[in-house]
Amino acid sequence: MLTLTVLVSGGGTNLQAIIDNIRAGLIRDVKISSVISNNYGVKALARAEEAGIPTRVISPRDFDDREQFHAALLAAVRETAPDLVVLAGFLVAIPKEFVEAYPNRIINIHPALIPAFCGKGMYGLHVHEAVLARGVKVTGATVHFVDEGTDTGPIILQRAVAVRQDDTPESLQLRVMRDAEWELLPRAIDLIARGLVQIVDGRVIITGDIE
Ligand code: GRF
Repeated sequence: MLTLTVLVSGGGTNLQAIIDNIRAGLIRDVKISSVISNNYGVKALARAEEAGIPTRVISPRDFDDREQFHAALLAAVRETAPDLVVLAGFLVAIPKEFVEAYPNRIINIHPALIPAFCGKGMYGLHVHEAVLARGVKVTGATVHFVDEGTDTGPIILQRAVAVRQDDTPESLQLRVMRDAEWELLPRAIDLIARGLVQIVDGRVIITGDIE
């Protein structure tokens, strides 16, 4: 059984995709033991509670400085003893100590085809605004391991999504979530749970059938 702790910040649609895939038996031998949010009152918490998953909020507002917040966040994750930490729409940069505590055991979903449109400031709608401003014809989503950089860890899965002439940042975000993110994140978790994901020379090798 692979135990997950899922970190969230907002809508929780990626969390919901994991919950739904587990319920449907598309992901086996995986359990979400805890959902931790950095924001109070977000829909992701309601989604977890509805699924009977314990939740916690570790908000920067409750701490005197960033360092204390980071320490509390790591302590809260340690208490859940996860095999894998999943960043599902989590908008907090993971500090060095956290990455060192879980080497190659933290994964993130990014709404673009890394190395395009990633790095500092590239999150949420900002990504899709930059995609439309640049006029690229294809974008997509990436699931990757988290290392000490920003969106720089080994890439596990990617999926391309066509950009449409009439796209707005909102319509593009929704299509990238629906046609890429909500598929890729559960699939990456399933592959990891089945022991089919290896890292060789800093690159991910998947030893099972991806499809
Ligand atoms: C989405 O844009 C996702 O790509 C990014 O966070 C945003 C919200 O995700 N990682 P969610 O609905 O909270 O899962």
